[in-house]
Formats: sequence, C-alpha cells, structure tokens
Amino acid sequence: MNSLLFGTAKINEKKHLEIGGCDTLQLAKEYGTPLYVYDVALIRERAQGFNETFTDLGVKHRVTYASKAFSCLAIYQVMKEEGLSCDVVSAGELYTALKAGMDPAQIAFHGNNKTYEELALAVDENIGAIIVDNFYEITLLKEILENKNKTQTILLRVAPGIDAHTHEFIMTGQEDSKFGFDINSGQAERALQIVQGESHFDLVGVHCHIGSQIFSTDAFKMASSKMVELLVDWRKRYDFVAQILNLGGGFGVKYIESDDPLEGKEYVREIALSVKNNCAENEYPLPEIWIEPGRSIVAEAGTSLYTVGARKDIPTVRNYVSVDGGMGENIRTALYDAEYTAAIANDMTAPNEEIVTITGKYCESGDVLVKNASMPKVKPGDILAMFSTGAYGYSMASNYNRNPRPAVVFVENGHSRLVVKRETYADLVSADVPLY
Ligand code: LLP
Repeated sequence: MNSLLFGTAKINEKKHLEIGGCDTLQLAKEYGTPLYVYDVALIRERAQGFNETFTDLGVKHRVTYASKAFSCLAIYQVMKEEGLSCDVVSAGELYTALKAGMDPAQIAFHGNNKTYEELALAVDENIGAIIVDNFYEITLLKEILENKNKTQTILLRVAPGIDAHTHEFIMTGQEDSKFGFDINSGQAERALQIVQGESHFDLVGVHCHIGSQIFSTDAFKMASSKMVELLVDWRKRYDFVAQILNLGGGFGVKYIESDDPLEGKEYVREIALSVKNNCAENEYPLPEIWIEPGRSIVAEAGTSLYTVGARKDIPTVRNYVSVDGGMGENIRTALYDAEYTAAIANDMTAPNEEIVTITGKYCESGDVLVKNASMPKVKPGDILAMFSTGAYGYSMASNYNRNPRPAVVFVENGHSRLVVKRETYADLVSADVPLY
C-alpha cells in the first residue's frame, strides 16, 4: 500500500487514484494537466488538529497559516472557515488575503525587507500584527505611524541561534541568517530598547522561526527554552512581559517512504508543553502561543497530475520519462534536491518494474521532478501523480519558457472546484508592452 496516500486519497474500483471522492483521471480530463489537486478535507483536518491540541492543553493560542506555502483566494477562505489566522510576506499576499475576506486583525505581516509602501498598506488596513525584522524597518514603520498618527501592534522577530539541521536554503533560525534581530550579538536587546521608547509601537511579543521541514522535536524545544530565557531576562532588565510568544512553523511532512515525521499536532503538543514548563520554572506568566504552520497544513493535501509524453531510455545509464510540466510549477527538486514519490494514477495497482527519472518539458537539464523513481512501466498518455506537492509548489511557480502556470482544483465530498484557472497564452503576454 502506498504510504503517500493521505487524507481521502485512495485507489478506487477502477484502480485509479481518487482524491476527495473524485477520480483523478476524470479531473485530468476535465481540467487538463499539469494540475494541482487539493484534498480540502485533509487541509481542514490539519488546521483543526493544531487548534484542538492547544485547546486540549488549555493554552491560549493562535494558529497562523503561513500562506507563502500556497496562496490563493480560496485557501484563505478555507483557513478562515477553520478559524485560522494567516501570515503574509508581501503586499501581494496581503492583498489576496484581504480580498478573500480574511479579517485584517487576523493577519500578521512578515518579511526581512518590507517596503515603505507595503508597511503603509499594512498600517492603513489595520492588520493585526507586524513582525518587525530589522532596524531599517523600525525606522520606516516609525515614520509611517507618526505621519498617520497611529499605533501598531508589533512583535520582534529574533534569531535564536539555533541550527535545525535542514537544507541550508531553508534554514532560518541560525545566527548567520538574513532574518530577525540576532540575540547573541545584542541586536535583539537593542531593538527592544528602541521600540520600548516609542509610543507608536505596541510591542506585544517576540517571534522566531528556526527553519522548515524539521522532523525533530528537540530543535523546537531548544528554541522554546531559548525564547523563554530571553523573555525572563527582558522582564528582569526591562520590565517587559510578553503577551505573545510566536514560535513560527517548520513542522516536517512526508515526501518519500523513508520520511517519518510526527503528525503536525504532535509538534505543537511538544512545543506547548515545553513553553508551559519553561514558564512555570521561571514563574513567567504563560504567554499566548502563536505558531505559523505552512507546509504541514497543505503539503500532503496537494497532488500534482501530469500527462506522460516522451521517453528516452539510455541503456545502462538512465531512463528519462518526460511529463507536460516540470520546474515551472514545481521547482523544489531543481532548487533543493527535494525528493518526491510518484505513481501512475490510471493504474495504481501495477507493480513497480523500472527506475525512471521523471523530468519536465523545460529547456534545462536540471528540470527534474523525481530522480530515480521506482515505477511501473510508464508509457505515453499515462497520468502521473506526484504526491505531497501542496506546499511551495504552485506558490513558487514561474512562467519559464513561457509555459502557462497550471490550474488548481479543490476536491471535497465528491465535488471538484476550480480555484485557480490555468493561465492562457493571452495571460502570458498580458503585461507585455509591444514596440508596435
Ligand atoms: N514562518 C516563517 C517566518 C517562515 O519563514 C516560514 C517559512 C514559515 C513560518 C512556514 O514554514 P513551514 O511550516 O511551511 O515549514 N520554499 C521552501 C520553504 C521555505 C520556507 C520559508 N519560510 C521549500 O519549498 O521547502
């Protein structure tokens, strides 16, 4: 049995892959390929799991969906329905969240180089929290708030100096990072001194994010203790008591058979208990805990469908199987050496017979989706399913080689719904300005 079949995914009586009660062959036919398919029931389950875990532990909390993992109007609406907040990292994500009807008070704004215009928009829209990342941002935000005579709720993002042993491009909590005020060198303390002295800032807490696709709970526990240690120190020396402790996201998910993550809510349990204990030991009032899961809410709920085309078998070297998409809608393999699992959606019970490298249609040798995939005999016209592609796939898509970005559908209870249209060739030239 394929252990990458999450949520409602199953093999139906036709031996086809079915998700959300919808036959993926039918979806491929109706919407075309490449196609992103999201299992909405699974997204809801994951979202609810986080909230319930905190509630069961009696911990005040906020679960903030890190929308960089997958951003479109419909996903913010699902998050809203499930009582989640969201974080955004650009005016574009902020605009999309607001357009989707997200309550501005439930939006947190992140980023290491927010522009004046982006910060001004956030202030104008009265968004719930700005997570201030650096000294330049303090200056910009101060000017904006003074001009508008407003006060803004902020958290300070700090770099706790924790190396969470994940891919170096995805690591963010270590000292050598572009994100946040470094604790060890005293930058974080300096930031506290500055914002404490400014009436336009309402500092409510601190934030850290130690990285992404992390399996070990130890890294999160280390971060929690380091953050509580910082807060205890700041209470003693600056009389600052945090109402909020935001510990970011980063909970690992399963991409391949050998990945063995805990369930997202288990990480939350460990984190919440660790903060509770650390606070109790230091007689520190338990702050509200915020988390920012992205990948762990949407990755396993997403499946990409492709149509198989050309093959090139190089005897004793490699078998290349090309599909009708590639690095344009999923750059993770090319960028991070990410590993994925694939299957033939039209024949899910066929035994694996060959090792193939699944590649795309882009003019680039690095355009690989799955290296050395163990597959049944793959033939042109097969519908290939790639599992766990719901996070950082569509959201990192590009128009390289002028390929239109794919459509996205939500499936739930036997119904499918187009939530992002496939781009047309006309869309591709819509921002171009011809010379004549
Ligand atoms: N909070 C902050 C401040 C973050 O920077 C991130 C991710 C998250 C939350 C959500 O992390 P998650 O729960 O999704 O792991 N493009 C890369 C991942 C980059 C993550 C960036 N920050 C990838 O495809 O693996």
